[in-house]
Amino acid sequence: MTILWNLAMLIIGLVVIKISHWLYRWSNPKCNGIGKLPPGTMGFPIIGETIDFFKPSGFNDIPSFVKKRMLRYGPLFRTNILGSKTVISTDPDVNLQIFRQENTCFEPGYPDIFFKVFGKDNLFMKEVTFHKYLQKITTELIGSEGLKRTMIGVMDRAIRDHFLLKASQGSFDVRKEVDNLVLAYMTPKLISNLKPETQSKLVDNLNDITLHWFQSIFSLSTWKFLIKFLKSRGEAIQVMKDALKRRKESREKQGDFLNTMLEELEKEDSIFDQGSAIELIFLLSFVTREGTSGCTALAVKFISKNPKVLAELKREHKAIVENRKDKEAGVSWEEYRHNMTFTNMVINESLRLTNTTPLLFRKAVSDVEIKGKYYYKVIYIYIKGKWLRYTIPAGWIVAVAPAAVHYDPEIYENPFEFNPWRWKGKEMVWGSKTFMAFGGGVRLCVGAEFARLQMAIFIHHLVTYYDFSLVQDCEVTRTPFLQFTKGLLINISKSCTK
Ligand code: HEM
Ligand SMILES: *[C@@H]1O[C@H](CO)[C@@H](O)[C@H](O)[C@H]1NC(C)=O
Ligand SMILES: *[C@@H]1O[C@H](CO)[C@@H](O)[C@H](O)[C@H]1NC(C)=O
Ligand SMILES: *[C@@H]1O[C@H](CO)[C@@H](O)[C@H](O)[C@H]1NC(C)=O
Repeated sequence: MTILWNLAMLIIGLVVIKISHWLYRWSNPKCNGIGKLPPGTMGFPIIGETIDFFKPSGFNDIPSFVKKRMLRYGPLFRTNILGSKTVISTDPDVNLQIFRQENTCFEPGYPDIFFKVFGKDNLFMKEVTFHKYLQKITTELIGSEGLKRTMIGVMDRAIRDHFLLKASQGSFDVRKEVDNLVLAYMTPKLISNLKPETQSKLVDNLNDITLHWFQSIFSLSTWKFLIKFLKSRGEAIQVMKDALKRRKESREKQGDFLNTMLEELEKEDSIFDQGSAIELIFLLSFVTREGTSGCTALAVKFISKNPKVLAELKREHKAIVENRKDKEAGVSWEEYRHNMTFTNMVINESLRLTNTTPLLFRKAVSDVEIKGKYYYKVIYIYIKGKWLRYTIPAGWIVAVAPAAVHYDPEIYENPFEFNPWRWKGKEMVWGSKTFMAFGGGVRLCVGAEFARLQMAIFIHHLVTYYDFSLVQDCEVTRTPFLQFTKGLLINISKSCTK
């Protein structure tokens, strides 16, 4: 009896030791390098600090998850979110190093959960050389050349028609309206010869595929929407698959993105296969809309609350129209590039405050130590007069938090104030360490010019031809993606003074 008893105690003891050891290892992960891990906590076993990561926080601040830890641990800290050991950086210099060393120390490294949502064939999140192909393959559609040649006219007409329609219909939700209008002109650009009913079904599905429903990880409606999201995603993918198959059989040529993808698939050295080609069409249909609508709505909000900004915009756009030879013509590329200086400042300022992207993810390929310019495998950071040295172990996720930089009072004076004039004469480049709205390094957003152009044309029509007033201000939270818990409603009427 006592032997059995002792044996049982021994086994229980061993299990307890094993579990404690595991728990200890969970909160104190190993680090092989000479440096040490950045400070921070790893949270509960398995789920880590994921629940805290998804806690809603206010619009006008750094997401609280990041802010809390930044204040406690400094600009670089460790955590475990979305099932991955992660180091989060809020330091502009470290961010820049991370982007510069892509393909040497870091690779695209989105946590596994993203593949569940965006598809396992999505090259965007795993293929190191993807960006190079992506840029080439999308130039006709959303690159400067394509925008200049065809897209600008398509956008201009779509926006003009939508405004005409809305002027006779009372107030509307800006974000939803931009969703509709981008989907209406982009869907045929992606796949042009769908039957009308198939196309409208596809547009409906794509409208459901959004991140705007994420209230809280505990809310039932979040899970309901997730199910709807996945169902719509499945249906949209099926339509795209069918279209690809039919096009392949018929071998007819169309000037759409599906055609571009088919040509790409026939190349010997293509990195795409049928699955990843479809995933890319899907990704583009998602980001073109999701990328532009929230930011346009917030730009309209900022403008409507700042009469001085509105007056300056009106001045700039009236001058453009007065200088136009053909009064019926829409916005031209030259006008967008050369005559919208202030508008571009407004767009930059809106992007800075909006912070659509809470975190940009990479994965450490080998142990990376954080240091200055020369030894790329080591990064030192200089904080409060002290050089610190940390290691990011191989396989860990590294995430950059752009909001921390955009709201840094040392970089942007009065960071929470909407002040387009702060951009005046600033010689900054996209993806610089102080402005990361579109990311940085080689993976800079390929839709950046598209998003800017769409916003510029929207602002052009709104301030030139219409009087508008705010009917309902929006309420936006970060969970940590932007959520419009209340939409921005405006009222427009044709302006009498032309
Ligand atoms: C204001 C709107 C937008 C913002 C703030 C934004 C932001 C970003 C950011 C931060 C990245 C970098 C992701 C990373 O480094 O992991 C990115 C990448 C990307 N964006 Fe955007 N984006 C916007 C609009 C768009 C639009 C309209 C499109 C499509 C037309 C688009 C397509 C893409 C694609 C395809 C990538 C992946 C690039 C690559 O991995 O090579 N984005 N975007
Ligand atoms: C627009 O830019 C062009 C080229 O810089 C310039 O010649 C023209 O005067 C500008 N028009 C207005 C209205 O500012
Ligand atoms: C807006 O920001 C981009 C990227 O930093 C910069 O290249 C551009 O000059 C800025 N535009 C204005 C008008 O300040
Ligand atoms: C909306 O527009 C109508 C007519 O243009 C106007 O009578 C009404 O007061 C406006 N509402 C708001 C809240 O501005």
